[in-house]
Amino acid sequence: MSLRVIQVSTGNVGVHALRQIIESPHLDLVGLHANNPAKIGRDAGELCGLGDTGVVATDDIAELVALNADCVVYTSQAETRPQHALAELVAFLEAGTNVVATSMVWFIHPPHADAWLREPLEAACAAGGASLYINGIDPGFSGDTLPLAALTLCQSVERVCVQEIFDYATYDDAEFTGISFGFGFAADDDPPMILLPGVLTSIWGGPVKLVADALGVELDEIRESHDTWLATEAIDCAMMRVEPGHVAAVRFSVEGIKDGRSIIAMEHVNRLTAAAAPDWPYPPDGRPGVHRVIVTGRPGVEMNTHVGLGGIDLNEGGVIATAARVVNAIPAVVAARPGVLELRDLPVAQAQGLLR
Ligand SMILES: NC(=O)c1ccc[n+]([C@@H]2O[C@H](COP(=O)([O-])OP(=O)(O)OC[C@H]3O[C@@H](n4cnc5c(N)ncnc54)[C@H](OP(=O)(O)O)[C@@H]3O)[C@@H](O)[C@H]2O)c1
Repeated sequence: MSLRVIQVSTGNVGVHALRQIIESPHLDLVGLHANNPAKIGRDAGELCGLGDTGVVATDDIAELVALNADCVVYTSQAETRPQHALAELVAFLEAGTNVVATSMVWFIHPPHADAWLREPLEAACAAGGASLYINGIDPGFSGDTLPLAALTLCQSVERVCVQEIFDYATYDDAEFTGISFGFGFAADDDPPMILLPGVLTSIWGGPVKLVADALGVELDEIRESHDTWLATEAIDCAMMRVEPGHVAAVRFSVEGIKDGRSIIAMEHVNRLTAAAAPDWPYPPDGRPGVHRVIVTGRPGVEMNTHVGLGGIDLNEGGVIATAARVVNAIPAVVAARPGVLELRDLPVAQAQGLLR
């Protein structure tokens, strides 16, 4: 029997989740939320480039909660409106509707999330007998599935380093990614959101702790560091135009420290076009992006992941993969114990209905 699913948001990630739900032989779209007034009342199929489904977008969360669906796919913007997103997630969970989400990226490893967010969500799961699972590609896949898979190949480990090295030039998201990473900022502008003290750790510290926990290691501390690169000449790309002297590349690291040694790192190198930050690491084989893990130890393992093949752009591939990451988890999350879950609470195989 198909699982009854509601999609919340039709943004960058949401539109791909919506397509996957509509096309899945195991999922039945029963409701759709959109915030943009221009989308309200329009058919879900039209909003994601497919034929009509008979399900139209509403901005009424209560109407969607009343559908008593099996699961909600929540991809609405949450980092900039956490209180509102929290209230919406609690409403679904208390009513017994499971939620998978790409928003609230602090929950890749739930114990890491702030108590003011975690406790109401745990209480709502308990009240409704429902489950919540939050994931994506990074943070998400790169910091849980990828290193945990690599570690199964190791006899001993000295360091686990996860990297996203990605050219965001084709990512047309100046409003959120651009502003939050500080692309296009002048050298003397206030720091962007993710480079404010503690924010990198709030997002990528969860995967650091998850890997430490998997290794059975208690970390002494988590350290964060970052660097920016200023354009030497104007850069034009889909994300934005960057004037000379303004930020065209950002790199950062969140590291788990044990006995004075960095044993786990979640690193990013994000540039706008290949011309930016020529001295910083590039992906292997001349590719524009990679999510990889390098495990130093015996025998030593490197796993490189490239999303977007066969003409699909890497940034498009990244948002498709982010949507797939949680839509594919729906059957497992519906079957799971109630509570706020992470990858290790779910079965390894999450691929039902994918073959075409
Ligand atoms: N972990 C990962 O790998 C990963 C990767 C990408 C994104 N994410 C996360 O996934 C979420 C979605 O990302 P995105 O790129 O799709 O974001 P987005 O395009 O900026 O926003 C998604 C949608 O949220 C809705 N929205 C925006 N403001 C709203 C408001 N005030 N009230 C209600 N809804 C509002 C809109 O839906 P409508 O257009 O339908 O009105 C918008 O299109 C974010 O939280 C992001 O951090 C995670």
